[in-house]
Amino acid sequence: MKKKCMAALLAAAMAFGLAACGSSENSGPDGGTAAQQNMAGQESTASQEEPTTQETEVNIGETAADTEVDTQAERESILIAYFSIPEDIDTDGIDADAGASIVVKDEQVMGNLEYTANVIWQTVGGDLFRIETVEQYPLEHEALVDQAAEEQDADARPALAAQIENVGQYDTIFLGYPNWWGDMPMPLYTFLEEYDFSGKTIIPFTVHGGSGFSDTVSSIAELQPNAKVSEDGLSISRNSVADAEAEIISWAKGVVL
Ligand SMILES: Cc1cc2nc3c(=O)[nH]c(=O)nc-3n(C[C@H](O)[C@H](O)[C@H](O)COP(=O)(O)O)c2cc1C
Repeated sequence: MKKKCMAALLAAAMAFGLAACGSSENSGPDGGTAAQQNMAGQESTASQEEPTTQETEVNIGETAADTEVDTQAERESILIAYFSIPEDIDTDGIDADAGASIVVKDEQVMGNLEYTANVIWQTVGGDLFRIETVEQYPLEHEALVDQAAEEQDADARPALAAQIENVGQYDTIFLGYPNWWGDMPMPLYTFLEEYDFSGKTIIPFTVHGGSGFSDTVSSIAELQPNAKVSEDGLSISRNSVADAEAEIISWAKGVVL
């Protein structure tokens, strides 16, 4: 893994630290507290999923549902892979929660990247793949941030719970992940070292607490030197992701259709 410079770490730490003092635009992560169902655990055995059967399908309204995808062949060549850990947050009385690790739409609770990946998938089609680890992450905020920091310090490669069956069929890989401590979560390193995406286009997307992509796009390019890594990735603040459906749809159409 590329060594992160001290400035990047400081910036991440500042974004992260600010969050503990209260939420504001471009601040870091908040601490979730109360109970929420384990969305990550629910799908721990999932691999590739078709739009008709996907369990966490999001109702993103007519705009996306009406989206036309050019050909079936084009749909089959798209993979949307994402990593998302929706933290334990009290969702009582919340319809659309912004500024936290979750999005709530129509009483459905999703991680920020889970929601974004679903909107992309409903816009461009293809296969949806959730990157999950054998050992599940804690959903309580402090435990999660501690584990993430420890894994980063150890340059860990957490084992993945499911594999992509036929990676050769894809030309375009949307790759979604949260910014964790100014970097990708370590399972993304496992994922990018496990597969060879040579000749394919990787389109990154992230939802963050203020740090944007940090240096993750160049890290992806280093891990996949023979892939084309798009510079037109989508970076959304978690404070606005719940209201970003139109932006996500417009971006996804722009990069693929
Ligand atoms: C362990 C951890 C570390 C984080 N570090 C950062 C960070 O350095 N910079 C930042 O902008 N956001 C940071 N965040 C906020 C997440 O990027 C943000 O909440 C994201 O939308 C979570 O996506 P998810 O709900 O799909 O997992 C961190 C969150 C966690 C849990």
